[in-house]
Amino acid sequence: MGRAIFITGTGTEIGKTMATSFLCTALRKLGMKATVFKPIQTGLAEQSALFADQYWYEAVMGEERESTGMYYMEPAVSPHLASAMTHTIIEPEKIKRKINELKAQHDVVLVEGAGGLAVPLIEKGAEFYMTKDLIRECELPVVIVSLAGLGAIHHTLTTVTYAEKHHIDIVGFVFNHFDSENIIHVDNVRTIQKMLDLPVIAKLPTLRQPSKENIEKLAADLLRDEALQKMLLGGLSIEV
Ligand SMILES: Nc1ncnc2c1ncn2[C@@H]1O[C@H](COP(=O)(O)OP(=O)(O)O)[C@@H](O)[C@H]1O
Ligand SMILES: [Mg+2]
Repeated sequence: MGRAIFITGTGTEIGKTMATSFLCTALRKLGMKATVFKPIQTGLAEQSALFADQYWYEAVMGEERESTGMYYMEPAVSPHLASAMTHTIIEPEKIKRKINELKAQHDVVLVEGAGGLAVPLIEKGAEFYMTKDLIRECELPVVIVSLAGLGAIHHTLTTVTYAEKHHIDIVGFVFNHFDSENIIHVDNVRTIQKMLDLPVIAKLPTLRQPSKENIEKLAADLLRDEALQKMLLGGLSIEV
């Protein structure tokens, strides 16, 4: 039985899909059987009739359709609103079952969330079922993807505080659009590590052309870091 890890972010459009693709590629390079799963997708890709992340995982990364998605809703809005608009009933139990199926077939299952931890998935009477509730129900630890630039300290601190409030385990951070020449980026990573004492799994640069080939190259490059290798070979497990 493998492990499943939830990939969340400090916001939308900050690189969850990029980080998930990178981690999956790097895990496979180390000989692990890894897969991605994006249970809830909203909004179509610009250049395609496919959903944005489905387009990326299937058409660009070449992933199998069966594991890339479950609920597809066309409006590019929050899942709770998209499901109301499209009369889609999201069943967390079904997502959990699928994650368990994928775990039985893989060493690591990377589950990409929609938006961040405080995103509502289902509105039921006076209650909202949130992304953090799905994470708790599926008993998943999270990787937090953050931008590296101005604002990253606030965004990571608030996300971590919210995760801790809801007893969600954090594997570590992936910083996206990281520029090692930028003093803000370098100091943000240092400050966040010092304040929160959580592992920095990887710092991903901005790729001129995001493609499968360039992610493969980036993974080969970053895997020279033994700490990253160790973390991935341990299935991104949380150090106690
Ligand atoms: N490191 C990067 N280099 C180049 N483009 C990136 C990088 N990270 C993200 N992007 C681009 O930015 C957009 C949003 O990234 P994505 O990973 O889809 O974010 P999210 O999944 O958090 O919504 C996509 O078009 C993606 O190709
Ligand atoms: Mg995404």
